[in-house]
Amino acid sequence: MNPIFPIPNSIEQGDGQFTINADTQIVTAEATVGHLLAGYLIPAMGFEIAVVAETESEDNTITLQIADDAHENPEGYTLAVTSDTVTISAPQARGLIYGVQTLLQLLPSQIMGKELIAGISWEIPAVTINDAPAFRWRGLHLDVGRHMFSVDFIKKFIDMMVFYKMNTFHWHLTEDQGWRIEIKKYPKLTEISAFRKETPIPEDRTTGDGKPYGGFYTQDEVHEVVAYAAERQITVVPEIELPGHSVAVLAAYPELGCVGEGYEVWTRWGIADDVYCAGKEEVFTFLENVLTEVIDLFPGEYFHIGADECPKVRWEVCPDCQERIKAEGLENEYELQSWFVRRIEKFLNAKGRRLVGWDEILEGGLSPSATVMSWRGSQGGIDAANAGNDVVMSPNTYCYLDYYQGEDIDNEPAAIGGYLPLKNVYQFIVIPEEVEPDKAHHILGGQGNVWTEYIPTSDQVEYMAYPRAVAIAEVVWSHPEERDYDAFEDRLKQHFPHMEAMGINYRPLAD
Ligand code: ACM
Ligand code: ZN
Repeated sequence: MNPIFPIPNSIEQGDGQFTINADTQIVTAEATVGHLLAGYLIPAMGFEIAVVAETESEDNTITLQIADDAHENPEGYTLAVTSDTVTISAPQARGLIYGVQTLLQLLPSQIMGKELIAGISWEIPAVTINDAPAFRWRGLHLDVGRHMFSVDFIKKFIDMMVFYKMNTFHWHLTEDQGWRIEIKKYPKLTEISAFRKETPIPEDRTTGDGKPYGGFYTQDEVHEVVAYAAERQITVVPEIELPGHSVAVLAAYPELGCVGEGYEVWTRWGIADDVYCAGKEEVFTFLENVLTEVIDLFPGEYFHIGADECPKVRWEVCPDCQERIKAEGLENEYELQSWFVRRIEKFLNAKGRRLVGWDEILEGGLSPSATVMSWRGSQGGIDAANAGNDVVMSPNTYCYLDYYQGEDIDNEPAAIGGYLPLKNVYQFIVIPEEVEPDKAHHILGGQGNVWTEYIPTSDQVEYMAYPRAVAIAEVVWSHPEERDYDAFEDRLKQHFPHMEAMGINYRPLAD
Protein backbone atom coordinates (compact mmCIF):
# COMPACT_ATOMS: atom_id res chain seq x y z
CA MET A 1 0.00 0.00 0.00
CA ASN A 2 1.22 3.51 -0.75
CA PRO A 3 2.28 5.57 2.24
CA ILE A 4 -0.06 8.41 3.20
CA PHE A 5 1.09 11.92 4.16
CA PRO A 6 0.42 13.06 6.81
CA ILE A 7 0.39 9.63 8.40
CA PRO A 8 -3.19 8.80 9.46
CA ASN A 9 -4.22 8.17 13.05
CA SER A 10 -5.08 4.56 12.31
CA ILE A 11 -4.86 2.26 9.30
CA GLU A 12 -6.20 -1.28 9.05
CA GLN A 13 -5.44 -3.08 5.85
CA GLY A 14 -8.06 -5.41 4.37
CA ASP A 15 -8.07 -7.94 1.55
CA GLY A 16 -8.47 -7.16 -2.11
CA GLN A 17 -8.91 -3.81 -3.77
CA PHE A 18 -11.46 -1.47 -5.27
CA THR A 19 -10.99 -0.61 -8.92
CA ILE A 20 -12.24 2.65 -10.41
CA ASN A 21 -13.55 2.30 -13.96
CA ALA A 22 -15.84 4.26 -16.25
CA ASP A 23 -18.91 2.74 -14.55
CA THR A 24 -17.93 3.78 -11.04
CA GLN A 25 -20.29 6.32 -9.53
CA ILE A 26 -19.69 8.94 -6.87
CA VAL A 27 -22.73 9.00 -4.63
CA THR A 28 -23.10 12.09 -2.52
CA ALA A 29 -25.34 14.92 -1.45
CA GLU A 30 -22.19 17.08 -1.42
CA ALA A 31 -22.03 17.83 -5.12
CA THR A 32 -19.10 20.23 -4.83
CA VAL A 33 -16.88 17.64 -3.19
CA GLY A 34 -18.14 14.94 -5.55
CA HIS A 35 -17.21 16.99 -8.59
CA LEU A 36 -13.87 17.90 -7.04
CA LEU A 37 -13.09 14.17 -6.78
CA ALA A 38 -14.34 13.45 -10.30
CA GLY A 39 -12.26 16.38 -11.54
CA TYR A 40 -9.08 15.05 -9.96
CA LEU A 41 -9.53 11.78 -11.84
CA ILE A 42 -10.40 13.06 -15.32
CA PRO A 43 -6.99 14.00 -16.79
CA ALA A 44 -5.18 10.72 -16.10
CA MET A 45 -8.16 8.38 -16.46
CA GLY A 46 -9.54 10.13 -19.47
CA PHE A 47 -13.16 9.75 -18.39
CA GLU A 48 -15.49 11.58 -16.05
CA ILE A 49 -17.21 9.37 -13.55
CA ALA A 50 -20.78 10.24 -12.69
CA VAL A 51 -21.66 12.16 -9.54
CA VAL A 52 -25.16 11.21 -8.37
CA ALA A 53 -27.25 11.94 -5.29
CA GLU A 54 -28.43 8.34 -4.97
CA THR A 55 -28.15 5.01 -6.71
CA GLU A 56 -29.95 1.66 -6.88
CA SER A 57 -27.00 -0.61 -6.39
CA GLU A 58 -24.17 0.12 -4.02
CA ASP A 59 -21.80 -1.88 -6.11
CA ASN A 60 -18.92 0.06 -7.66
CA THR A 61 -19.68 3.27 -5.82
CA ILE A 62 -17.66 5.85 -3.97
CA THR A 63 -19.92 7.31 -1.30
CA LEU A 64 -19.08 10.66 0.29
CA GLN A 65 -21.37 11.26 3.23
CA ILE A 66 -21.73 13.85 5.93
CA ALA A 67 -22.62 12.31 9.27
CA ASP A 68 -22.48 14.22 12.54
CA ASP A 69 -21.15 11.21 14.40
CA ALA A 70 -18.58 10.22 11.77
CA HIS A 71 -15.81 11.71 13.89
CA GLU A 72 -15.54 13.70 17.10
CA ASN A 73 -13.07 16.08 15.43
CA PRO A 74 -14.88 18.46 13.04
CA GLU A 75 -12.03 18.06 10.54
CA GLY A 76 -11.85 14.27 10.90
CA TYR A 77 -13.00 11.56 8.50
CA THR A 78 -13.18 7.82 8.08
CA LEU A 79 -12.42 5.97 4.89
CA ALA A 80 -13.49 2.41 4.24
CA VAL A 81 -12.40 0.67 1.05
CA THR A 82 -13.67 -2.81 0.16
CA SER A 83 -13.59 -4.57 -3.17
CA ASP A 84 -17.12 -3.29 -3.89
CA THR A 85 -17.35 0.15 -2.36
CA VAL A 86 -15.46 3.13 -1.07
CA THR A 87 -17.07 5.14 1.72
CA ILE A 88 -15.80 8.39 3.15
CA SER A 89 -17.72 9.74 6.13
CA ALA A 90 -17.11 13.00 7.91
CA PRO A 91 -18.96 15.51 10.05
CA GLN A 92 -18.17 18.27 7.55
CA ALA A 93 -17.34 18.68 3.86
CA ARG A 94 -13.80 19.43 4.94
CA GLY A 95 -13.30 15.89 6.23
CA LEU A 96 -14.66 14.49 2.97
CA ILE A 97 -12.05 16.48 1.08
CA TYR A 98 -9.32 15.09 3.34
CA GLY A 99 -10.63 11.57 2.72
CA VAL A 100 -10.45 12.30 -1.00
CA GLN A 101 -6.78 13.31 -0.65
CA THR A 102 -6.05 10.04 1.12
CA LEU A 103 -7.79 8.21 -1.72
CA LEU A 104 -5.64 10.00 -4.30
CA GLN A 105 -2.48 9.07 -2.41
CA LEU A 106 -3.59 5.42 -2.32
CA LEU A 107 -4.15 5.32 -6.08
CA PRO A 108 -1.24 4.71 -8.47
CA SER A 109 0.85 7.89 -8.61
CA GLN A 110 0.01 8.43 -12.29
CA ILE A 111 -3.43 9.59 -11.19
CA MET A 112 -1.93 12.97 -10.33
CA GLY A 113 -0.70 13.57 -13.88
CA LYS A 114 -2.26 15.99 -16.31
CA GLU A 115 -2.18 13.56 -19.22
CA LEU A 116 -4.15 10.50 -20.13
CA ILE A 117 -2.47 7.29 -18.96
CA ALA A 118 -3.60 4.17 -20.74
CA GLY A 119 -3.27 0.60 -19.53
CA ILE A 120 -3.35 1.21 -15.80
CA SER A 121 -5.77 -0.46 -13.44
CA TRP A 122 -6.88 2.28 -11.04
CA GLU A 123 -6.82 0.23 -7.87
CA ILE A 124 -7.20 1.27 -4.26
CA PRO A 125 -6.23 -1.36 -1.69
CA ALA A 126 -8.89 -2.42 0.80
CA VAL A 127 -8.34 -0.45 3.99
CA THR A 128 -10.07 1.23 6.90
CA ILE A 129 -8.70 4.57 8.00
CA ASN A 130 -9.72 6.75 10.90
CA ASP A 131 -8.10 10.13 10.81
CA ALA A 132 -8.16 13.66 12.23
CA PRO A 133 -5.71 16.50 12.74
CA ALA A 134 -3.87 17.27 15.95
CA PHE A 135 -3.93 21.03 15.31
CA ARG A 136 -6.43 23.35 13.72
CA TRP A 137 -3.97 25.83 12.13
CA ARG A 138 -1.97 23.96 9.52
CA GLY A 139 -0.41 26.65 7.43
CA LEU A 140 1.94 27.61 4.69
CA HIS A 141 3.00 31.15 3.96
CA LEU A 142 4.19 32.63 0.69
CA ASP A 143 5.90 35.99 0.27
CA VAL A 144 4.86 37.52 -3.05
CA GLY A 145 6.38 40.92 -2.23
CA ARG A 146 10.03 40.10 -2.87
CA HIS A 147 9.13 37.97 -5.88
CA MET A 148 5.75 37.47 -7.42
CA PHE A 149 4.15 34.29 -8.76
CA SER A 150 1.33 33.72 -11.22
CA VAL A 151 -2.24 33.00 -10.19
CA ASP A 152 -1.83 29.56 -11.78
CA PHE A 153 1.12 28.87 -9.53
CA ILE A 154 -0.72 30.10 -6.44
CA LYS A 155 -3.43 27.57 -7.31
CA LYS A 156 -0.85 24.82 -7.65
CA PHE A 157 0.58 25.84 -4.28
CA ILE A 158 -2.95 25.51 -2.86
CA ASP A 159 -3.35 22.11 -4.55
CA MET A 160 -0.25 20.93 -2.75
CA MET A 161 -1.48 22.30 0.55
CA VAL A 162 -4.77 20.44 0.46
CA PHE A 163 -2.99 17.30 -0.78
CA TYR A 164 -1.23 17.32 2.61
CA LYS A 165 -4.38 18.37 4.49
CA MET A 166 -3.23 21.89 5.31
CA ASN A 167 -5.96 24.44 5.81
CA THR A 168 -4.45 27.94 6.02
CA PHE A 169 -2.69 29.83 3.23
CA HIS A 170 -0.95 32.93 4.62
CA TRP A 171 -0.56 35.25 1.66
CA HIS A 172 2.14 37.84 2.38
CA LEU A 173 0.96 40.55 0.00
CA THR A 174 2.96 43.67 0.81
CA GLU A 175 6.61 44.45 1.26
CA ASP A 176 9.17 47.24 1.08
CA GLN A 177 10.06 45.89 -2.36
CA GLY A 178 6.55 45.64 -3.76
CA TRP A 179 2.83 46.03 -3.05
CA ARG A 180 0.89 43.22 -4.73
CA ILE A 181 -2.84 43.79 -4.31
CA GLU A 182 -5.10 46.16 -6.19
CA ILE A 183 -6.77 48.72 -3.93
CA LYS A 184 -9.35 50.71 -5.86
CA LYS A 185 -9.21 53.75 -3.61
CA TYR A 186 -5.43 54.11 -3.92
CA PRO A 187 -4.43 53.48 -7.56
CA LYS A 188 -0.85 54.58 -6.99
CA LEU A 189 -0.31 51.42 -4.94
CA THR A 190 -0.43 49.45 -8.18
CA GLU A 191 0.98 52.16 -10.44
CA ILE A 192 3.98 52.95 -8.28
CA SER A 193 4.27 50.71 -5.18
CA ALA A 194 4.03 47.48 -7.20
CA PHE A 195 7.19 48.13 -9.20
CA ARG A 196 10.85 48.47 -8.28
CA LYS A 197 13.76 49.61 -10.39
CA GLU A 198 15.86 46.52 -9.83
CA THR A 199 16.52 43.49 -7.67
CA PRO A 200 19.72 42.51 -5.85
CA ILE A 201 21.51 39.70 -7.66
CA PRO A 202 21.40 36.52 -5.57
CA GLU A 203 25.15 36.09 -5.30
CA ASP A 204 25.69 39.56 -3.92
CA ARG A 205 23.45 41.44 -1.53
CA THR A 206 24.55 44.89 -2.61
CA THR A 207 24.59 44.81 -6.42
CA GLY A 208 21.39 45.34 -8.36
CA ASP A 209 20.56 43.56 -11.61
CA GLY A 210 19.40 46.77 -13.29
CA LYS A 211 16.08 45.20 -14.37
CA PRO A 212 12.72 46.71 -13.42
CA TYR A 213 10.49 44.19 -11.64
CA GLY A 214 6.93 44.18 -10.41
CA GLY A 215 3.29 43.32 -10.73
CA PHE A 216 0.18 42.85 -8.65
CA TYR A 217 -2.96 40.77 -8.29
CA THR A 218 -6.20 42.43 -9.38
CA GLN A 219 -9.15 42.14 -7.06
CA ASP A 220 -10.72 39.73 -9.59
CA GLU A 221 -7.64 37.53 -9.34
CA VAL A 222 -7.75 37.66 -5.56
CA HIS A 223 -11.40 36.57 -5.70
CA GLU A 224 -10.42 33.72 -7.97
CA VAL A 225 -7.69 32.52 -5.59
CA VAL A 226 -9.88 32.83 -2.50
CA ALA A 227 -12.70 30.89 -4.20
CA TYR A 228 -10.30 28.21 -5.43
CA ALA A 229 -8.91 27.83 -1.94
CA ALA A 230 -12.39 27.76 -0.37
CA GLU A 231 -13.43 24.90 -2.63
CA ARG A 232 -10.50 23.02 -1.12
CA GLN A 233 -11.39 24.10 2.41
CA ILE A 234 -8.36 26.34 2.65
CA THR A 235 -8.72 29.72 4.34
CA VAL A 236 -6.59 32.48 2.91
CA VAL A 237 -5.17 34.83 5.52
CA PRO A 238 -4.03 38.08 3.89
CA GLU A 239 -1.07 39.94 5.35
CA ILE A 240 -0.87 43.70 4.95
CA GLU A 241 2.32 44.80 6.71
CA LEU A 242 2.34 47.68 9.16
CA PRO A 243 3.88 49.83 10.59
CA GLY A 244 7.15 48.56 9.02
CA HIS A 245 8.00 46.87 5.71
CA SER A 246 6.03 49.62 3.99
CA VAL A 247 8.52 51.66 1.99
CA ALA A 248 6.78 50.73 -1.27
CA VAL A 249 3.67 52.53 -0.01
CA LEU A 250 5.66 55.59 1.03
CA ALA A 251 7.12 55.79 -2.47
CA ALA A 252 3.59 56.39 -3.76
CA TYR A 253 2.15 58.28 -0.78
CA PRO A 254 5.14 60.01 0.87
CA GLU A 255 2.89 62.00 3.19
CA LEU A 256 2.35 58.77 5.17
CA GLY A 257 5.99 58.67 6.35
CA CYS A 258 7.63 60.69 9.12
CA VAL A 259 10.04 62.46 6.75
CA GLY A 260 7.42 62.91 4.05
CA GLU A 261 9.66 62.75 0.97
CA GLY A 262 12.48 61.01 -0.82
CA TYR A 263 11.18 57.42 -0.80
CA GLU A 264 11.62 54.77 -3.50
CA VAL A 265 10.26 51.25 -3.76
CA TRP A 266 13.12 49.43 -2.09
CA THR A 267 15.71 47.67 -4.24
CA ARG A 268 17.60 45.99 -1.41
CA TRP A 269 16.73 43.25 1.07
CA GLY A 270 16.71 43.85 4.80
CA ILE A 271 14.90 46.12 7.22
CA ALA A 272 14.15 49.66 6.11
CA ASP A 273 14.20 52.53 8.62
CA ASP A 274 11.28 54.25 6.93
CA VAL A 275 7.90 53.11 8.26
CA TYR A 276 4.41 54.58 8.56
CA CYS A 277 4.30 57.66 10.77
CA ALA A 278 2.41 56.86 13.97
CA GLY A 279 1.55 60.48 14.60
CA LYS A 280 -0.25 61.53 11.43
CA GLU A 281 -3.99 60.86 11.31
CA GLU A 282 -3.98 60.39 7.54
CA VAL A 283 -1.97 57.19 8.04
CA PHE A 284 -4.91 55.65 9.88
CA THR A 285 -7.39 56.93 7.32
CA PHE A 286 -5.29 55.30 4.61
CA LEU A 287 -4.89 52.02 6.49
CA GLU A 288 -8.55 51.78 7.40
CA ASN A 289 -9.56 52.36 3.79
CA VAL A 290 -7.08 49.77 2.57
CA LEU A 291 -8.06 47.22 5.21
CA THR A 292 -11.73 47.72 4.40
CA GLU A 293 -11.13 46.72 0.77
CA VAL A 294 -8.94 43.79 1.76
CA ILE A 295 -11.42 42.54 4.36
CA ASP A 296 -14.11 42.51 1.69
CA LEU A 297 -11.95 40.20 -0.43
CA PHE A 298 -11.06 37.70 2.30
CA PRO A 299 -13.95 36.14 4.20
CA GLY A 300 -11.73 34.33 6.73
CA GLU A 301 -11.73 35.23 10.40
CA TYR A 302 -8.03 36.06 10.70
CA PHE A 303 -6.24 39.11 9.34
CA HIS A 304 -2.44 39.37 9.54
CA ILE A 305 -0.96 42.84 10.03
CA GLY A 306 2.72 41.90 10.07
CA ALA A 307 4.24 44.25 12.67
CA ASP A 308 7.65 42.57 12.54
CA GLU A 309 10.93 44.43 12.17
CA CYS A 310 9.78 48.00 12.69
CA PRO A 311 12.76 50.27 13.46
CA LYS A 312 12.04 53.21 15.73
CA VAL A 313 14.64 55.68 14.43
CA ARG A 314 12.19 57.83 12.47
CA TRP A 315 9.61 57.89 15.27
CA GLU A 316 12.28 58.98 17.76
CA VAL A 317 12.85 62.26 15.93
CA CYS A 318 9.45 62.86 14.31
CA PRO A 319 7.49 65.70 15.97
CA ASP A 320 4.16 64.06 15.07
CA CYS A 321 5.17 60.72 16.57
CA GLN A 322 6.53 62.38 19.69
CA GLU A 323 3.34 64.38 20.02
CA ARG A 324 1.35 61.12 19.81
CA ILE A 325 3.48 59.56 22.55
CA LYS A 326 2.74 62.54 24.77
CA ALA A 327 -0.94 62.76 23.96
CA GLU A 328 -1.50 59.03 24.59
CA GLY A 329 0.65 58.96 27.74
CA LEU A 330 3.05 56.38 26.29
CA GLU A 331 6.46 55.56 27.73
CA ASN A 332 8.46 55.09 24.56
CA GLU A 333 8.44 54.08 20.89
CA TYR A 334 7.74 50.43 21.76
CA GLU A 335 4.56 51.48 23.44
CA LEU A 336 3.83 53.63 20.42
CA GLN A 337 4.05 50.53 18.23
CA SER A 338 1.77 48.69 20.60
CA TRP A 339 -0.67 51.61 20.51
CA PHE A 340 -0.55 51.53 16.70
CA VAL A 341 -1.30 47.81 16.58
CA ARG A 342 -4.10 48.06 19.15
CA ARG A 343 -5.73 50.86 17.21
CA ILE A 344 -5.69 48.73 14.08
CA GLU A 345 -6.93 45.75 16.06
CA LYS A 346 -9.96 47.69 17.26
CA PHE A 347 -10.75 48.54 13.67
CA LEU A 348 -10.41 44.92 12.55
CA ASN A 349 -12.49 43.63 15.45
CA ALA A 350 -15.26 46.08 14.60
CA LYS A 351 -15.26 44.53 11.11
CA GLY A 352 -15.50 41.03 12.56
CA ARG A 353 -11.87 40.05 12.07
CA ARG A 354 -9.21 38.80 14.47
CA LEU A 355 -5.73 40.25 14.36
CA VAL A 356 -2.66 38.10 13.85
CA GLY A 357 0.82 39.61 14.05
CA TRP A 358 4.43 38.48 14.18
CA ASP A 359 5.83 38.09 17.69
CA GLU A 360 7.05 41.71 17.85
CA ILE A 361 3.46 42.58 18.77
CA LEU A 362 4.39 41.36 22.26
CA GLU A 363 6.74 44.31 22.65
CA GLY A 364 5.22 47.30 24.38
CA GLY A 365 2.16 45.35 25.53
CA LEU A 366 -0.30 43.08 23.79
CA SER A 367 -4.08 43.05 23.74
CA PRO A 368 -5.54 39.77 25.02
CA SER A 369 -7.43 39.07 21.81
CA ALA A 370 -4.46 39.20 19.41
CA THR A 371 -2.99 36.01 17.94
CA VAL A 372 0.79 35.85 17.92
CA MET A 373 2.77 34.22 15.15
CA SER A 374 6.03 33.15 16.76
CA TRP A 375 8.93 33.40 14.32
CA ARG A 376 12.06 34.41 16.28
CA GLY A 377 12.25 30.93 17.67
CA SER A 378 9.47 29.68 19.93
CA GLN A 379 9.93 32.04 22.88
CA GLY A 380 7.40 34.63 21.74
CA GLY A 381 4.85 31.88 21.30
CA ILE A 382 5.60 30.42 24.72
CA ASP A 383 5.25 33.82 26.41
CA ALA A 384 2.08 34.65 24.53
CA ALA A 385 0.40 31.30 25.22
CA ASN A 386 1.29 31.49 28.91
CA ALA A 387 -0.22 34.99 28.97
CA GLY A 388 -3.42 33.57 27.48
CA ASN A 389 -3.04 34.71 23.87
CA ASP A 390 -3.59 32.40 20.93
CA VAL A 391 -0.44 31.43 19.06
CA VAL A 392 0.63 30.04 15.73
CA MET A 393 4.08 28.50 15.87
CA SER A 394 6.29 29.20 12.86
CA PRO A 395 9.71 29.43 14.50
CA ASN A 396 12.63 30.03 12.17
CA THR A 397 14.35 27.17 13.99
CA TYR A 398 11.99 24.64 12.35
CA CYS A 399 9.73 26.36 9.88
CA TYR A 400 11.72 28.78 7.69
CA LEU A 401 11.65 27.11 4.33
CA ASP A 402 13.85 29.80 2.76
CA TYR A 403 16.86 28.51 4.72
CA TYR A 404 19.42 26.20 3.16
CA GLN A 405 18.45 22.56 3.28
CA GLY A 406 21.84 21.02 2.48
CA GLU A 407 25.19 21.43 4.17
CA ASP A 408 27.00 21.71 0.87
CA ILE A 409 25.73 25.14 -0.07
CA ASP A 410 27.73 25.23 -3.28
CA ASN A 411 25.31 22.62 -4.54
CA GLU A 412 22.19 24.49 -3.47
CA PRO A 413 20.58 27.52 -5.06
CA ALA A 414 21.72 30.71 -3.32
CA ALA A 415 19.51 31.13 -0.24
CA ILE A 416 19.06 33.72 2.47
CA GLY A 417 21.22 31.75 4.90
CA GLY A 418 20.42 29.45 7.79
CA TYR A 419 20.51 25.68 7.72
CA LEU A 420 17.33 23.72 8.10
CA PRO A 421 17.47 20.24 6.64
CA LEU A 422 14.35 18.11 6.34
CA LYS A 423 15.31 16.12 9.40
CA ASN A 424 15.29 19.22 11.61
CA VAL A 425 11.95 20.37 10.24
CA TYR A 426 10.51 16.97 11.12
CA GLN A 427 11.57 17.53 14.75
CA PHE A 428 9.38 20.69 14.92
CA ILE A 429 8.04 21.05 18.46
CA VAL A 430 4.67 22.75 18.19
CA ILE A 431 3.99 22.91 21.93
CA PRO A 432 7.27 23.46 23.77
CA GLU A 433 7.39 22.11 27.32
CA GLU A 434 7.64 25.65 28.69
CA VAL A 435 4.00 26.17 27.75
CA GLU A 436 1.93 25.55 30.87
CA PRO A 437 -0.34 22.52 30.38
CA ASP A 438 -3.52 24.53 30.95
CA LYS A 439 -2.34 27.01 28.30
CA ALA A 440 -1.46 24.47 25.62
CA HIS A 441 -4.84 24.91 23.94
CA HIS A 442 -3.73 28.43 22.99
CA ILE A 443 -1.28 26.93 20.50
CA LEU A 444 -3.50 26.76 17.43
CA GLY A 445 -0.94 24.97 15.30
CA GLY A 446 2.04 25.55 13.07
CA GLN A 447 3.07 26.98 9.75
CA GLY A 448 5.94 26.89 7.26
CA ASN A 449 7.11 30.21 5.82
CA VAL A 450 8.45 30.76 2.32
CA TRP A 451 10.20 34.13 2.15
CA THR A 452 11.32 34.87 -1.38
CA GLU A 453 14.22 37.31 -1.40
CA TYR A 454 16.34 34.53 -2.89
CA ILE A 455 13.52 32.66 -4.60
CA PRO A 456 12.84 34.27 -7.97
CA THR A 457 10.94 31.44 -9.66
CA SER A 458 8.03 29.14 -8.87
CA ASP A 459 10.26 26.11 -9.54
CA GLN A 460 12.51 27.32 -6.77
CA VAL A 461 9.56 27.90 -4.44
CA GLU A 462 8.77 24.22 -4.87
CA TYR A 463 12.37 23.20 -4.41
CA MET A 464 12.53 25.07 -1.10
CA ALA A 465 9.05 24.09 0.09
CA TYR A 466 9.01 20.41 -0.80
CA PRO A 467 9.43 18.04 0.87
CA ARG A 468 10.02 20.21 3.96
CA ALA A 469 6.40 21.39 3.98
CA VAL A 470 5.33 17.74 4.05
CA ALA A 471 7.27 17.34 7.29
CA ILE A 472 5.41 20.32 8.76
CA ALA A 473 2.10 18.98 7.49
CA GLU A 474 2.77 15.66 9.19
CA VAL A 475 3.79 17.26 12.48
CA VAL A 476 0.69 19.45 12.71
CA TRP A 477 -1.69 16.70 11.62
CA SER A 478 -0.30 13.51 13.05
CA HIS A 479 1.62 14.91 16.00
CA PRO A 480 3.41 11.61 16.45
CA GLU A 481 4.83 11.22 19.94
CA GLU A 482 7.80 9.40 18.58
CA ARG A 483 8.94 10.69 15.27
CA ASP A 484 10.88 8.16 13.32
CA TYR A 485 12.70 10.22 10.75
CA ASP A 486 14.16 7.22 8.94
CA ALA A 487 10.69 5.79 8.47
CA PHE A 488 9.49 9.20 7.26
CA GLU A 489 12.25 9.22 4.64
CA ASP A 490 11.43 5.69 3.53
CA ARG A 491 7.78 6.60 3.12
CA LEU A 492 8.73 9.76 1.19
CA LYS A 493 10.80 7.76 -1.28
CA GLN A 494 7.70 5.73 -2.11
CA HIS A 495 5.61 8.89 -2.34
CA PHE A 496 7.82 11.02 -4.59
CA PRO A 497 6.24 9.58 -7.76
CA HIS A 498 2.99 11.30 -6.74
CA MET A 499 4.85 14.63 -6.51
CA GLU A 500 6.53 13.96 -9.83
CA ALA A 501 3.18 13.31 -11.47
CA MET A 502 1.98 16.64 -10.05
CA GLY A 503 5.00 18.33 -11.62
CA ILE A 504 6.51 19.38 -8.31
CA ASN A 505 10.15 20.39 -8.41
CA TYR A 506 10.88 18.92 -4.99
CA ARG A 507 14.37 18.61 -3.55
CA PRO A 508 15.54 15.00 -3.60
CA LEU A 509 16.62 13.48 -0.31
CA ALA A 510 20.27 13.72 0.60
CA ASP A 511 22.15 10.46 -0.01
C1 ACM B 1 9.89 37.66 9.62
O1 ACM B 1 10.52 36.67 9.22
N1 ACM B 1 10.40 38.88 9.52
C2 ACM B 1 8.57 37.51 10.19
ZN1 ZN C 1 6.13 60.19 12.55
